[in-house]
Amino acid sequence: AVPGLVDRFGRAATDLRVSLIDKCNLRCGYCMPADGLPWLPKDELLTDDEIVRLIAVATAELGVTEVRFTGGEPLLRKGIVDIVRRVAELPRRPSMSLTSNALLLGRLAGPLAAAGLDRVNVSLDSVRPDTFAELTRRDRLTDTLAGLRAAADAGLRPIKLNAVLLRGVNDDQAVELLEFALQQGYQLRFIEQMPLDAGHHWQRGDMVTAGEIQQQLAQRFSLRPHPAPRDGAPAELFDVLDAGEVRGTVGIIASVTRPFCGDCDRTRLTADGAVRSCLFSQTETDLRGLLRAGASDEQLAQVWRGAMWGKPAGHGIDRPDFLQPRRPMSAIGG
Ligand code: GTP
Ligand code: 5AD
Ligand code: SF4
Repeated sequence: AVPGLVDRFGRAATDLRVSLIDKCNLRCGYCMPADGLPWLPKDELLTDDEIVRLIAVATAELGVTEVRFTGGEPLLRKGIVDIVRRVAELPRRPSMSLTSNALLLGRLAGPLAAAGLDRVNVSLDSVRPDTFAELTRRDRLTDTLAGLRAAADAGLRPIKLNAVLLRGVNDDQAVELLEFALQQGYQLRFIEQMPLDAGHHWQRGDMVTAGEIQQQLAQRFSLRPHPAPRDGAPAELFDVLDAGEVRGTVGIIASVTRPFCGDCDRTRLTADGAVRSCLFSQTETDLRGLLRAGASDEQLAQVWRGAMWGKPAGHGIDRPDFLQPRRPMSAIGG
């Protein structure tokens, strides 16, 4: 067997997150400024062919078995249905998922499912129209909810919801978000906010912690650790008990207060073709230049392996010398 994407700490990356575009059609305060950001120039974005080629290398030569498309908002990428179809035709077909705000799923869920997409995760921080509009700076809760239903109808299941709680904005809405998710049959995960906002406003003391979220939920439900093994997943899963009955599960992604870096199985590709060994890497390894200079699959694989060998042990958010990465969340894909 070929050596996979292993690092000095013995972790192997089998889960590839591919950012397809850095643009978005929402402006969530924890991610992007109201005016947006200087977008990547078109000629610096990987082409559809280049993306499919790199995924082919990752699956054929590097042991990648799961691919997740991210953004920005990945559904803004014109060729997405085609990319999914071509990846589904690869000899070692990876499982394929998408992390999206769902605005465009009303139109795209069906075609994506037909092309071979397996499932979607959807960002949803509030089910109140006014809070949704305040947080995302766009009044589009209705489109998000329609997108979610379209995804469920198209069979893109299980559907996971991602919620980031922000102090003074939606930090009182954990219970109602969970009620909504249980009712609709979506798996909700609460995420601790990480220092990845474009404005570098994140402060440890402002963050709504996993512990606090669990306390809020405990006022209405009891949570019991879910029996299935976690398997390197960012989310800790809990069964949600309501009057003694299990109504579903809820996840907590406590990246900051209970980091899971020791079990990390991820590698990332930015929309402009750089390998990021960690969400918080200070260095990146460019593959686009090599691709465009005519590198072979083996050469690309070799450079990718080298990039992963230098993966840091963890994010180091609590270290005094922690530096937020220069690239914002919207250009990494989370
Ligand atoms: P699945 O469990 O496969 O469904 O995906 P996921 O939860 O890993 O992906 P998703 O894109 O839905 O991300 C949910 C949250 O987890 C986001 O806030 C991501 O930034 C965060 N996340 C995903 N991967 C990592 C990681 O490797 N490290 C850290 N610290 N956070 C991550
Ligand atoms: N910290 C944690 N999660 C974040 N997301 C966006 N910005 C942050 C942040 N600073 C989440 C979104 C999306 C997922 C990819 O990452 O909710 O669902
Ligand atoms: Fe992996 Fe880096 Fe995320 Fe930790 S912060 S889990 S090492 S990607």
